[in-house]
Amino acid sequence: MLPKRLRSFIEDADIPLSLADAQTPDMPLVLVNAAFERLTGYLSEEVVGQNCRFLQGNTDQPEARSEVRALLSGRADGQVVLKNYRKNGERFDNLLFLFPIEIGGKLAYFLGSQFEATGEDTLSDSAARGGYLKAHLATLQTDTRILKAQTRRTTSESIAIAARTLVTLS
Ligand code: FNR
Repeated sequence: MLPKRLRSFIEDADIPLSLADAQTPDMPLVLVNAAFERLTGYLSEEVVGQNCRFLQGNTDQPEARSEVRALLSGRADGQVVLKNYRKNGERFDNLLFLFPIEIGGKLAYFLGSQFEATGEDTLSDSAARGGYLKAHLATLQTDTRILKAQTRRTTSESIAIAARTLVTLS
C-alpha cells in the first residue's frame, strides 16, 4: 500500500516525479505527478502500470540503460541522462535522478525525478574556436551549467530525504 503522505507529497510537488514499485517484476510506475504529465505529455492513467522505459521509444542507448539498471540493482542513488520522447513525438534529454525508498527496512519503491536537459545545458564550442572573450564566455557557461546541475541534484536529494522521512511516519 502506497503511504498516503508519500502520495500527497509527490502529487503536490512542482517538479516532475515518478514512483515505481520495486517489489513488482519490471518495476511498473504506481504514481506520477502533474509536473511529470506536463513534461512528458502523458497523463497518469496512460502510464501507471507501465515501466517508464516507454519514454525511450525506439532509441538505442544501451550505456545509459545499463547505468540505470546498475543503480536499480545496486539500490543506489544516482543520475543518468536518457533520450526520451514526449507523447507528441518531440525528443528531449531527460536528466533522471533515482532514489530507492525503503519501508520498514525493506526496499519498497524507486523515486524518479525528471528534469529536461535543455540546450543551455550544452556547452558552446566557443572555447574550442579560441579567443579571450570566447574562452571567458565558455567558462561562465560552464559555471552556470555546474550551478544548475548542482541545484537540480540538491533539489532531488531534498525530495528523496523528505520522501524517506515521510514513509517512516505512521
Ligand atoms: C525510470 N526509468 C526511466 N527511463 C526513461 O527513459 N525515462 C524516465 O523518465 C524514467 N523514469 C524512471 C523512473 C523510475 C522510478 C524508475 C525505477 C525507472 C528507467 C527505465 O524504467 C528502465 O529502468 C531503464 O530503461 C533500464 O532498464 P531496461 O529498459 O534496460 O530494462
